[in-house]
Amino acid sequence: MPLNSPVLVTGGAGFIGSNFVLQWLVEQQTPVTVLDKLTYAGNLENLASVQQDSRYRFVCGDIADGALVRRLLDEQHPGAIVHFAAESHVDRSILGPGEFIRTNIEGTFQLLEAVRGYWMELPTEQRKEFRFLHVSTDEVYGSLTPTAPAFTEETPYAPNSPYSASKAASDHLVRAYHHTYGLPVLTTNCSNNYGPRQFPEKLIPLVVQNALKGLPLPVYGDGQNVRDWLYVTDHCDGIRAVLERGVAGQTYNIGGRQEMSNLEVVRQICATLDELKPAGKPYASLITFVKDRPGHDRRYAMDIAKIERELGWQPRETFAGGLRKTIQWYLDNPEWVEHVTSGSYREWIDLQYTPSSPEGAANR
Ligand code: NAD
Ligand code: TYD
Repeated sequence: MPLNSPVLVTGGAGFIGSNFVLQWLVEQQTPVTVLDKLTYAGNLENLASVQQDSRYRFVCGDIADGALVRRLLDEQHPGAIVHFAAESHVDRSILGPGEFIRTNIEGTFQLLEAVRGYWMELPTEQRKEFRFLHVSTDEVYGSLTPTAPAFTEETPYAPNSPYSASKAASDHLVRAYHHTYGLPVLTTNCSNNYGPRQFPEKLIPLVVQNALKGLPLPVYGDGQNVRDWLYVTDHCDGIRAVLERGVAGQTYNIGGRQEMSNLEVVRQICATLDELKPAGKPYASLITFVKDRPGHDRRYAMDIAKIERELGWQPRETFAGGLRKTIQWYLDNPEWVEHVTSGSYREWIDLQYTPSSPEGAANR
């Protein structure tokens, strides 16, 4: 699909979605409509810098509201949907899987239904050009042993958490809509992202915030779980490459080729903070091992040969460079952090990490 038609972005007020929208409005000429329910993870401040851009429109709503989605599609006439909206945090899916089933599975289904209705009524040429891009995760492939080869697009699905199971289910629905109805879908499976505007429940921003407050830096289990880290703007570039040049019906792995253990990540955050904002003692002295996450996947790694070979995309940012930019962004934006870490954020931290709550006690 040439990137010259309007797009509808679901979940565009969240971490990756907002980075995608900001980048889109710089790189492309065409309008963007964001549909976002503004859950705890959605934040309009993420999009404040484009509020005056006449190409940008924000609609607060649920992807599961088929009538609303259909109305938006008829009004905006997008040539593509980029579907980020989801419940995205594994630990929350363990404490309360229901919302993950509702948004990730039922929501994606309702969205697909509305999109299918709209797409079927498009003129032939536009139907061919149309794309539904579903943003998914490497976690659907399950867990790797330390020496196993990285996940390819052919690796069988083996999701282990309610989060990854709900994403796997949505991937299957998206695939079925292509196979059964011919809807021109694309699916991207991406590794762990990091960068500006990530909600501080995820490892990297949580550790940065705790370090700045002198609080313990919680490392689950032995800290040897391995993730493959990708800087968020590289992910957004990858999504645009897939949208523009990907073959409908195909899936593409996206990753950073930056495998690291959690302990290495936390140590590198501490070392970077020691340079950027020295405290009286090394931040690493705050590292605290806590009870492991139930069913914690040991290792994820992505084989990205397909997207590299077929679409010419590869990650540009190094982990050291991306991490420094990320930490600097959090240091420069204390108000953003202050706003998102009030209210429901505090309740979550109490539930997950405070010994006085039953779940928190289990984590100590
Ligand atoms: P996020 O939690 O920061 O943002 C999710 C956004 O979706 C929020 O703005 C939220 O308000 C919105 N949303 C939630 N439920 C909704 C609903 N029912 N209707 C409309 N909007 C709703 O998530 P993220 O980290 O930006 O992830 C975006 C997507 O990328 C997700 O689909 C996730 O599975 C996938 N992904 C994330 C990562 C990662 O490392 N963060 C890696 C690979 C894939
Ligand atoms: P997270 O950012 O939640 O992403 P995901 O579970 O989707 O990979 O966690 C990244 C890794 O860091 C994961 O192995 C769990 C671990 N982790 C900790 O050790 N401590 C923490 O406080 C958090 C939030 C995560």
